[in-house]
Amino acid sequence: MQGTRVLVTGGAGFIGSHLVEHLGAWNDVAVLDDLSTGSLRNLETVPREIRLKRASIRNRKALSAAMAGHEIVYHLAAKTSVPDSVAHPEAYWRTNVQGTLAVLKAAVDAKVRRVVFASSAAVYGSSEENPKVETMRPAPASPYASSKMVGEFACEEIASLKGLETVVARIFNAYGPRQDPTSPYASVISKFSASIAENRGIEIFGDGAQTRDFLYVEDLTTALELAGERPVAGQIINVGSGTATSVSEVARLLSEIAGVPVRMKRVDPRPGDVRDSRADITKAAEKLGFAPQTSLREGLTRTLAWYRAQTH
Ligand SMILES: NC(=O)c1ccc[n+]([C@@H]2O[C@H](COP(=O)([O-])OP(=O)(O)OC[C@H]3O[C@@H](n4cnc5c(N)ncnc54)[C@H](O)[C@@H]3O)[C@@H](O)[C@H]2O)c1
Repeated sequence: MQGTRVLVTGGAGFIGSHLVEHLGAWNDVAVLDDLSTGSLRNLETVPREIRLKRASIRNRKALSAAMAGHEIVYHLAAKTSVPDSVAHPEAYWRTNVQGTLAVLKAAVDAKVRRVVFASSAAVYGSSEENPKVETMRPAPASPYASSKMVGEFACEEIASLKGLETVVARIFNAYGPRQDPTSPYASVISKFSASIAENRGIEIFGDGAQTRDFLYVEDLTTALELAGERPVAGQIINVGSGTATSVSEVARLLSEIAGVPVRMKRVDPRPGDVRDSRADITKAAEKLGFAPQTSLREGLTRTLAWYRAQTH
């Protein structure tokens, strides 16, 4: 993508800031973010100046002003935790459902060409079947997953009613620098990496044999760029690595990369956690020409180096 005017909602967050960095070198990129979990620090390494508006996607005036004149919108702004959504379902409805409806409506009004929506593998729910294929019946098992599901339906509906191009990226477990390890719901790689960087032990829920499909964030931003430019309007596309790795294996690899033995403590499994999750990425390969480039070892090496740099 080159010379395109792009708006990234949630662009100061973990994935958003990498996407802004990736697209920012060759495009005119703006960010709309309320900085509720994102931060300006995440955007410090962006090569060119970007236009940042600090406001919520639920602020209609700010949203329509931010949207004006943009060709592509990446809609990443969201509340993102499964357990938090169980505790505060209304907040997830407001931000992820009403917020997404507002983004889609504003995009139509501003004559945006395409919206790429960051959905989640969570929509597949606790189904035991693996790998997850886009044609499976979704079975959301939390308010977070349901909110993403409704977002997907809204994309489909607005595309057919208003002609806006929409693309749904069902993102699996992204990891990499800048992922927040501090929240009680932080993802496993960010928590392990931060703990190892600070010479603390790590906690493994249950037996550690549960698997996830981990995708390095720079591979994810490549896939998102492709979703913005390829002829894939109306498509739902899994974005993952296509490989399942157990949590214990992540711990072992990180300990090996760190070059120090890591204290590991087993704690009770988390109720409601999915046992195994792996993406079928055939569609991403066929429709987007996407193939992950970063091995887990390489991605973990770069991630741990970043967390170590933060502790100095
Ligand atoms: N990280 C993953 O592995 C993963 C997996 C599947 C889907 N996703 C989706 O990708 C997107 C980005 O996730 P992330 O991991 O970077 O999370 P993040 O929390 O780092 O980023 C979300 C960003 O949205 C902003 N935001 C939240 N509510 C907002 C609002 N009302 N108005 C404006 N900005 C708001 C936050 O400040 C933050 O910068 C989310 O939509 C998430 O559901 C992430």
